[in-house]
This record gives sequence, structure tokens and C-alpha cells, in this order.
Amino acid sequence: MTDFDVVVVGAGVTGLTVANRLHAAGRSVLVLEARDRVGGRLLTEDVEGVRLEVGGQWVSPDQTALLALIDELQLEMYSRYRAGDSVYIGRDGVRRTFEGEKFPVSESTAAEVERLVKELDRLAALMDPLSPWEHPDAEELDRISFAAWLAEQTDDPEARDNVGLYVGPAMLTKPAHSFSALSAVLMAASAGGFSHLVDADFILDRRVVGGLQRVPLALASRLPEGTVRLDEAVTKIEWTDGGATVFTGQGSYHGRNVVLAVPPTLVSRVQYIPALPPVQAQMRQHISFGLVIKLHITYETPFWRELGLSGTAFSPYSLVHEAYDNTNEDVEGETRGTLVGFVSDVKADGLLSLTPEERRAKVLESLAAYYGEQALTPVHYYESPWMADEWTVGAFGTSFDIGSLTRYGRHLRSDVGPLAFASSDIAGLGFQHVDGAIRMGEAVAARILI
Ligand code: FDA
Repeated sequence: MTDFDVVVVGAGVTGLTVANRLHAAGRSVLVLEARDRVGGRLLTEDVEGVRLEVGGQWVSPDQTALLALIDELQLEMYSRYRAGDSVYIGRDGVRRTFEGEKFPVSESTAAEVERLVKELDRLAALMDPLSPWEHPDAEELDRISFAAWLAEQTDDPEARDNVGLYVGPAMLTKPAHSFSALSAVLMAASAGGFSHLVDADFILDRRVVGGLQRVPLALASRLPEGTVRLDEAVTKIEWTDGGATVFTGQGSYHGRNVVLAVPPTLVSRVQYIPALPPVQAQMRQHISFGLVIKLHITYETPFWRELGLSGTAFSPYSLVHEAYDNTNEDVEGETRGTLVGFVSDVKADGLLSLTPEERRAKVLESLAAYYGEQALTPVHYYESPWMADEWTVGAFGTSFDIGSLTRYGRHLRSDVGPLAFASSDIAGLGFQHVDGAIRMGEAVAARILI
């Protein structure tokens, strides 16, 4: 058995941030990672000749911790292609093009959307995203589903569907009837306001040259050789107040502190001796991953640009509820065009029940409704496989079921003896985003260093 000051479980951005900060402060650190690579939910991969952002990719202006780290690591960024008109398919099934962030809906629906967004902005401004349970309306908002809250606010179904889209399919990747209005407000507060979620140009602003996985790769490369051990899934942790022994299939390692830098759902997969206190075990049974299929569709050329389209498309009524131009502007000589699209929650359930050929046909049909017949003939098609990946099992992140944020939220970041917990899923600012992973990693490292 080998002794370390700190053993970190998980080499995603959270774990690698913890390890970097502790190493810089002179502590001995070991990082144990189940997969054969670092980065967790960030993976930039060449798939049959096309470089794809299989996991997270966008950086927005509110993500100040991520922006500072990108700067520290001397990585460059570029803007998403966004010249031209966007496409919206409404409740009437009609396809309309539009400019800016406001969907082309009737005047009365537009007024309702604006009113709802204002109200959600107001509620978000009253929330510290690190402690949503202290919101003045916390109990009330946590007891009601976001769908029911929207139904209380407006009779306009298209306004409800549009506002629901920003948080349900697009963010928490769960149906709006399955999470609370308080969770929706948290999503907004963690991004600096609901208006930011509505503005695709803000929330999906820039990409990192070479791919976002360069962030965890760079963090790992700054650690001494041997610090990160790959293919070592942690299965058991024996702990006392003085330290913990971490077991993998290859061996055991002792740390005065152990940081579980994994999503809350995977914290529960490890065996603890003694068992974690009841509230810890209970709490994590009320947290689950959302489900979204990230689709990457590459064409011989970005044909939509010729049609005066930006590639941005939305519809709460389509299988692919949102899509964007995701062409690799940083790859020299790239002439192909790539669209990225998302199929979420119950629509993803339906899609996953089909054969791969049927899935592809349905997705292309949905894209053709936005961009025309040319969308039916890509040169490359790929579905990110996070929902079946045993070290994530879902996407993008985890969230509480109705009523549980107020019931358990305050225990999310509590240490248990020498054990600390961190991941983007339990962040305040940057919740469910890389920014939150960095913030959580830095907070845990600072606590250990006191
Ligand atoms: P993460 O899950 O990345 O890391 C945990 C690590 O622990 C993994 O490497 C895992 O293998 C390991 N592990 C788990 N159990 C273990 C065990 N028992 N033993 C050892 N290791 C174990 N964010 C953003 O900012 N912009 C974006 O555009 C997107 N888009 C996006 C798309 C998709 C498809 C996904 C899946 C996610 C995003 N995200 C995103 C979210 C973002 O990727 C995510 O919030 C962070 O990468 C999470 O980093 P963490 O380190 O917290 O967890």
C-alpha cells in the first residue's frame, strides 16, 4: 500500500483541478481513474476521420472560472459559426426563419414568453446558486414541477413549450414534469440568469481550438509522471476520521484525505466501510442523470450557409429540439460542414428503442425539416454514447427529483470524515458545466489546504 496526502477518485476536470491545486501547494497526490483516459465527460475524438466533441464543448462568458483556466493553460478559442438566419418550427408545424434570439411566434405568445423569462430572471436573482434551499420561495418552488409551474403562469401552450425547452430538453435533459421549479431556477441562477439560457449566442459562445478535452489533458500533463493512474476503478473505501484506504482491482492506496470527484450517482457505486451516514445514502437516491443524445452529422459542405442559414434551429415539437453549425473552424483545410443536434428525455427514450438504421433515418428526417432535403445525405453520422457508458450513464449531468433539493441539498457538499465530494453536478455557479467542475475542484482543494 502506498501513502499520499490526498487520493483523488476521478480524472475529470474536477479531479484534475483538485490534484493540480494540491500539487502546487506541495501535497502528495494520487489520481485514480476508471477509464483508460482523462477528461471524463470531455472527449475530443477522431471518429472515422472527423474530429468530434463527443462530450462538452461550449464556453460561455459567464463561465469565468473556465475562462481563467483556459487563459492559464494558454489555450485559444474561436467563435461558433452564426451568420445567417435561424430556423424555428412552431406548434402549427410551420417552418419559419428568424434573426436574433426571439422565436418567430405570434405577438401574444412572444409577450407571454417575455413575461415568463422576466419572472424567471426575477426568481433567479433572488437565489445564491450555492444554496438554492435558502431562496425566499424555496419550499413552494421545490414542491411543484416546472411543467405545473408554467401551467400556473400562462394558458399559452407554445409559450410554455418554449420556456420549458430551455431548461427541460436543453439543460437538465429531463421532462419538465419530472424536476421542480426550484431546480429550473437553480439552472438559471447558475448561468447568471434565465435570459442567458434563452440566448444561444451567449450560452453556446465559443469553442477551444483543438477541442475542450485539451483542458483536462493539459491539467494532467502538469502533474508529475505517475500521479494519474488510468484503468483503476475504485470499488471500496475503508475510512476512519484519520484517513482512508482506497481499493481498486490493482491495489490499495492510503490518503489522509480522499476526494470523490465523480458524479453523485457514481459516489453510491463505491462500497464504504463503515457505510456513509444515512442522509448521504438517502440523498443520492434522489439524484439522477438526465438523458440526451448528442448527434454529429457531417456533410460534404456546410450547405446551409449557402442557403443563408446559420445552422441554428429549434423546435419543442421536433425530434431534434435544437441544432447548430458545429464545423471545426480550427482544422486547416476543412471543407466539410458538421451539424450538432440533440434529442432529449422521452424523445431519446423513443429513439433508443429503434435500430441504428431507424434512428439515423428519423434524425435525418428531423434535420431535413429544418434545413431541407440536403440534410438527408450526410457523409458521416455519429451518436455520442454517454447513456450507455458505465462511467457516466447519462448526459449532461445529474439533478434532484421534485422536493429533494430543499430536503437534501444542504448535505451535497458536506465532508464525511476524511472523504470530500465534488463534481460539476453539485456546483452552484457553473452547475452541470465545466466551469462548475473547476469551482468545485478549487473549493475542495482550498478546504483541504486549511
Ligand atoms: P466527469 O464525469 O467528467 O469526471 C468524473 C470522472 O470520474 C470520470 O473520468 C469517470 O471515469 C471517473 N470515475 C467515476 N467513477 C469512478 C470510480 N469508481 N473510480 C475511478 N474513477 C471513476 N459543459 C460545458 O461547460 N459546456 C458544454 O458544451 C457541455 N456539453 C456537454 C455535452 C455532453 C454530451 C456531456 C455529457 C456533457 C456536457 N457538458 C458541458 C458538461 C460537462 O462535460 C461536465 O459538467 C464536466 O465535464 C464534468 O466534470 P467532472 O470532473 O465533474 O465529472
